[in-house]
Amino acid sequence: MFNITFHPGSVGPSERAELLKQKGATIWLTGLSASGKSTIACALEQHLLHLKKHAYRLDGDNIRFGLCKDLGFDEKSRNENIRRIGEVSKLFADSTCIAITAFISPYQKDRDAAREMHIKASLPFIEVFVDAPLEVVEKRDPKGLYKKARAGEIKDFTGISAPYEAPANPEIHINTAETEVAESVKIITNYLIEKGYI
Ligand SMILES: Nc1ncnc2c1ncn2[C@@H]1O[C@H](COP(=O)(O)OP(=O)(O)O)[C@@H](O)[C@H]1O
Ligand SMILES: [Mg+2]
Repeated sequence: MFNITFHPGSVGPSERAELLKQKGATIWLTGLSASGKSTIACALEQHLLHLKKHAYRLDGDNIRFGLCKDLGFDEKSRNENIRRIGEVSKLFADSTCIAITAFISPYQKDRDAAREMHIKASLPFIEVFVDAPLEVVEKRDPKGLYKKARAGEIKDFTGISAPYEAPANPEIHINTAETEVAESVKIITNYLIEKGYI
Protein backbone atom coordinates (compact mmCIF):
# COMPACT_ATOMS: atom_id res chain seq x y z
CA MET A 1 0.00 0.00 0.00
CA PHE A 2 1.13 3.55 -0.74
CA ASN A 3 1.00 6.11 2.03
CA ILE A 4 -1.44 8.51 0.41
CA THR A 5 -4.16 10.62 1.98
CA PHE A 6 -6.75 12.60 0.05
CA HIS A 7 -6.10 16.31 0.53
CA PRO A 8 -9.32 18.34 0.23
CA GLY A 9 -9.23 21.91 -1.09
CA SER A 10 -10.15 25.08 0.77
CA VAL A 11 -13.04 25.79 -1.62
CA GLY A 12 -15.88 23.26 -1.60
CA PRO A 13 -18.01 22.27 -4.60
CA SER A 14 -20.94 24.62 -3.90
CA GLU A 15 -18.69 27.61 -3.19
CA ARG A 16 -16.73 26.89 -6.38
CA ALA A 17 -19.96 26.71 -8.41
CA GLU A 18 -21.17 29.94 -6.81
CA LEU A 19 -17.88 31.77 -7.46
CA LEU A 20 -17.69 30.62 -11.08
CA LYS A 21 -21.45 30.83 -11.73
CA GLN A 22 -21.47 27.41 -13.33
CA LYS A 23 -22.18 23.82 -12.41
CA GLY A 24 -20.16 20.95 -13.78
CA ALA A 25 -21.54 17.88 -15.54
CA THR A 26 -20.42 15.15 -17.88
CA ILE A 27 -22.25 14.50 -21.12
CA TRP A 28 -21.23 11.02 -22.13
CA LEU A 29 -21.81 10.27 -25.82
CA THR A 30 -21.73 6.57 -26.71
CA GLY A 31 -22.41 4.81 -29.99
CA LEU A 32 -20.94 2.98 -32.96
CA SER A 33 -18.09 4.45 -34.97
CA ALA A 34 -19.53 7.06 -37.39
CA SER A 35 -22.77 7.32 -35.44
CA GLY A 36 -22.00 11.04 -35.03
CA LYS A 37 -20.43 11.36 -31.56
CA SER A 38 -17.54 13.62 -32.58
CA THR A 39 -19.73 15.69 -34.90
CA ILE A 40 -22.35 16.27 -32.20
CA ALA A 41 -19.69 16.85 -29.52
CA CYS A 42 -18.07 19.61 -31.61
CA ALA A 43 -21.36 21.33 -32.37
CA LEU A 44 -22.50 21.03 -28.76
CA GLU A 45 -19.21 22.39 -27.40
CA GLN A 46 -19.44 25.34 -29.77
CA HIS A 47 -23.07 26.02 -28.81
CA LEU A 48 -22.37 25.89 -25.06
CA LEU A 49 -19.31 28.14 -25.41
CA HIS A 50 -21.45 30.65 -27.30
CA LEU A 51 -23.85 30.52 -24.35
CA LYS A 52 -20.77 31.50 -22.29
CA LYS A 53 -20.57 28.11 -20.61
CA HIS A 54 -17.21 26.53 -20.04
CA ALA A 55 -17.47 23.30 -22.03
CA TYR A 56 -14.69 21.01 -23.16
CA ARG A 57 -14.59 17.99 -25.41
CA LEU A 58 -12.74 14.79 -24.68
CA ASP A 59 -12.73 12.89 -27.96
CA GLY A 60 -11.82 9.23 -28.28
CA ASP A 61 -9.42 9.54 -31.20
CA ASN A 62 -7.72 12.66 -29.80
CA ILE A 63 -7.20 11.15 -26.36
CA ARG A 64 -5.51 8.15 -27.95
CA PHE A 65 -2.74 10.47 -29.22
CA GLY A 66 -1.77 11.31 -25.64
CA LEU A 67 -3.27 10.12 -22.38
CA CYS A 68 -4.27 6.71 -23.80
CA LYS A 69 -1.62 6.21 -26.48
CA ASP A 70 -0.38 3.10 -24.72
CA LEU A 71 -3.74 1.33 -25.15
CA GLY A 72 -5.09 -0.89 -27.93
CA PHE A 73 -8.62 -2.00 -28.76
CA ASP A 74 -8.92 -5.38 -27.05
CA GLU A 75 -11.50 -5.61 -24.26
CA LYS A 76 -9.02 -4.95 -21.43
CA SER A 77 -7.55 -1.90 -23.14
CA ARG A 78 -11.01 -0.54 -23.85
CA ASN A 79 -11.91 -1.02 -20.16
CA GLU A 80 -8.81 0.94 -19.13
CA ASN A 81 -9.42 3.60 -21.78
CA ILE A 82 -12.90 4.27 -20.44
CA ARG A 83 -11.78 4.09 -16.80
CA ARG A 84 -9.27 6.87 -17.47
CA ILE A 85 -11.80 8.97 -19.37
CA GLY A 86 -14.34 8.44 -16.60
CA GLU A 87 -11.82 9.80 -14.10
CA VAL A 88 -10.71 12.69 -16.30
CA SER A 89 -14.25 13.76 -17.18
CA LYS A 90 -15.12 13.61 -13.48
CA LEU A 91 -12.23 15.99 -12.73
CA PHE A 92 -13.39 18.37 -15.47
CA ALA A 93 -16.95 18.24 -14.15
CA ASP A 94 -15.70 18.77 -10.61
CA SER A 95 -13.91 21.90 -11.82
CA THR A 96 -17.41 23.14 -12.94
CA CYS A 97 -16.72 22.43 -16.61
CA ILE A 98 -19.27 20.73 -18.84
CA ALA A 99 -17.23 17.78 -20.08
CA ILE A 100 -18.42 16.27 -23.34
CA THR A 101 -16.97 12.84 -23.99
CA ALA A 102 -17.14 11.16 -27.40
CA PHE A 103 -16.03 7.56 -27.07
CA ILE A 104 -17.56 4.40 -28.53
CA SER A 105 -17.45 3.03 -24.96
CA PRO A 106 -19.05 -0.25 -26.05
CA TYR A 107 -19.37 -1.95 -22.67
CA GLN A 108 -22.23 -1.17 -20.32
CA LYS A 109 -20.18 -2.03 -17.25
CA ASP A 110 -17.50 0.52 -18.21
CA ARG A 111 -20.09 3.24 -18.74
CA ASP A 112 -21.75 2.26 -15.47
CA ALA A 113 -18.39 2.54 -13.71
CA ALA A 114 -17.90 6.06 -15.15
CA ARG A 115 -21.42 6.92 -13.97
CA GLU A 116 -20.66 5.53 -10.52
CA MET A 117 -17.55 7.75 -10.18
CA HIS A 118 -19.72 10.78 -10.92
CA ILE A 119 -22.52 9.76 -8.57
CA LYS A 120 -20.01 9.30 -5.75
CA ALA A 121 -18.77 12.84 -6.37
CA SER A 122 -22.38 14.19 -6.62
CA LEU A 123 -21.80 15.21 -10.25
CA PRO A 124 -24.38 14.81 -13.02
CA PHE A 125 -23.65 12.10 -15.58
CA ILE A 126 -25.75 12.28 -18.71
CA GLU A 127 -25.47 9.23 -20.91
CA VAL A 128 -26.42 10.02 -24.50
CA PHE A 129 -26.94 7.10 -26.87
CA VAL A 130 -25.86 8.39 -30.28
CA ASP A 131 -27.66 5.72 -32.21
CA ALA A 132 -27.77 4.84 -35.90
CA PRO A 133 -28.25 1.46 -37.57
CA LEU A 134 -25.13 -0.40 -38.68
CA GLU A 135 -26.21 -0.10 -42.36
CA VAL A 136 -26.27 3.68 -41.99
CA VAL A 137 -22.92 4.09 -40.23
CA GLU A 138 -21.34 1.62 -42.61
CA LYS A 139 -22.57 3.68 -45.55
CA ARG A 140 -21.25 6.92 -43.96
CA ASP A 141 -17.87 5.37 -43.17
CA PRO A 142 -16.09 8.79 -43.12
CA LYS A 143 -12.71 7.24 -42.30
CA GLY A 144 -13.07 4.06 -44.39
CA LEU A 145 -12.80 1.98 -41.23
CA TYR A 146 -15.83 -0.26 -41.83
CA LYS A 147 -14.47 -1.15 -45.25
CA LYS A 148 -11.15 -2.11 -43.67
CA ALA A 149 -12.88 -4.02 -40.87
CA ARG A 150 -15.02 -5.98 -43.39
CA ALA A 151 -11.84 -6.80 -45.30
CA GLY A 152 -10.36 -8.16 -42.07
CA GLU A 153 -7.69 -5.45 -41.95
CA ILE A 154 -8.81 -4.15 -38.54
CA LYS A 155 -9.47 -6.58 -35.74
CA ASP A 156 -11.76 -5.94 -32.76
CA PHE A 157 -13.84 -3.41 -34.71
CA THR A 158 -17.03 -2.46 -32.85
CA GLY A 159 -20.18 -3.61 -34.64
CA ILE A 160 -18.25 -5.94 -36.96
CA SER A 161 -15.82 -8.05 -34.95
CA ALA A 162 -16.28 -6.62 -31.44
CA PRO A 163 -19.51 -6.12 -29.48
CA TYR A 164 -21.45 -2.93 -28.84
CA GLU A 165 -23.74 -3.04 -25.83
CA ALA A 166 -26.47 -0.47 -26.37
CA PRO A 167 -27.25 1.61 -23.25
CA ALA A 168 -30.06 0.06 -21.20
CA ASN A 169 -31.20 3.34 -19.68
CA PRO A 170 -29.62 6.40 -21.28
CA GLU A 171 -30.77 9.86 -20.18
CA ILE A 172 -31.01 10.80 -23.88
CA HIS A 173 -31.43 8.61 -26.96
CA ILE A 174 -30.88 10.19 -30.38
CA ASN A 175 -31.26 8.39 -33.68
CA THR A 176 -28.87 10.26 -35.97
CA ALA A 177 -30.31 8.57 -39.06
CA GLU A 178 -33.37 10.76 -38.45
CA THR A 179 -32.05 13.71 -36.43
CA GLU A 180 -29.98 16.59 -37.83
CA VAL A 181 -26.87 17.66 -35.91
CA ALA A 182 -28.43 21.01 -34.91
CA GLU A 183 -31.49 19.18 -33.58
CA SER A 184 -29.29 16.83 -31.52
CA VAL A 185 -27.56 19.86 -30.00
CA LYS A 186 -30.94 21.34 -29.16
CA ILE A 187 -32.15 18.12 -27.53
CA ILE A 188 -29.09 17.93 -25.28
CA THR A 189 -29.10 21.65 -24.45
CA ASN A 190 -32.81 21.55 -23.58
CA TYR A 191 -32.15 18.62 -21.26
CA LEU A 192 -29.42 20.63 -19.49
CA ILE A 193 -31.78 23.59 -19.10
CA GLU A 194 -34.69 21.42 -17.87
CA LYS A 195 -32.49 19.84 -15.22
CA GLY A 196 -31.12 23.22 -14.14
CA TYR A 197 -27.56 22.27 -15.04
CA ILE A 198 -27.10 25.41 -17.15
N1 LIG B 1 -27.51 13.46 -38.29
C1 LIG B 1 -26.19 13.30 -38.18
N2 LIG B 1 -25.59 13.46 -36.97
C2 LIG B 1 -24.23 13.30 -36.88
N3 LIG B 1 -23.43 13.00 -37.91
C3 LIG B 1 -23.98 12.83 -39.13
C4 LIG B 1 -25.38 12.97 -39.31
N4 LIG B 1 -25.67 12.75 -40.60
C5 LIG B 1 -24.50 12.48 -41.23
N5 LIG B 1 -23.47 12.54 -40.34
C6 LIG B 1 -22.08 12.29 -40.72
O1 LIG B 1 -21.68 11.07 -40.12
C7 LIG B 1 -20.31 11.12 -39.79
C8 LIG B 1 -20.16 10.85 -38.30
O2 LIG B 1 -18.80 10.82 -37.99
P1 LIG B 1 -18.23 11.12 -36.54
O3 LIG B 1 -18.93 12.29 -35.96
O4 LIG B 1 -16.76 11.18 -36.69
O5 LIG B 1 -18.71 9.82 -35.77
P2 LIG B 1 -18.09 9.12 -34.47
O6 LIG B 1 -17.32 10.16 -33.70
O7 LIG B 1 -19.32 8.62 -33.75
O8 LIG B 1 -17.22 8.01 -34.96
C9 LIG B 1 -19.79 12.49 -40.17
O9 LIG B 1 -19.19 12.42 -41.43
C10 LIG B 1 -21.09 13.31 -40.20
O10 LIG B 1 -20.99 14.41 -41.09
MG1 LIG C 1 -15.31 10.20 -33.13
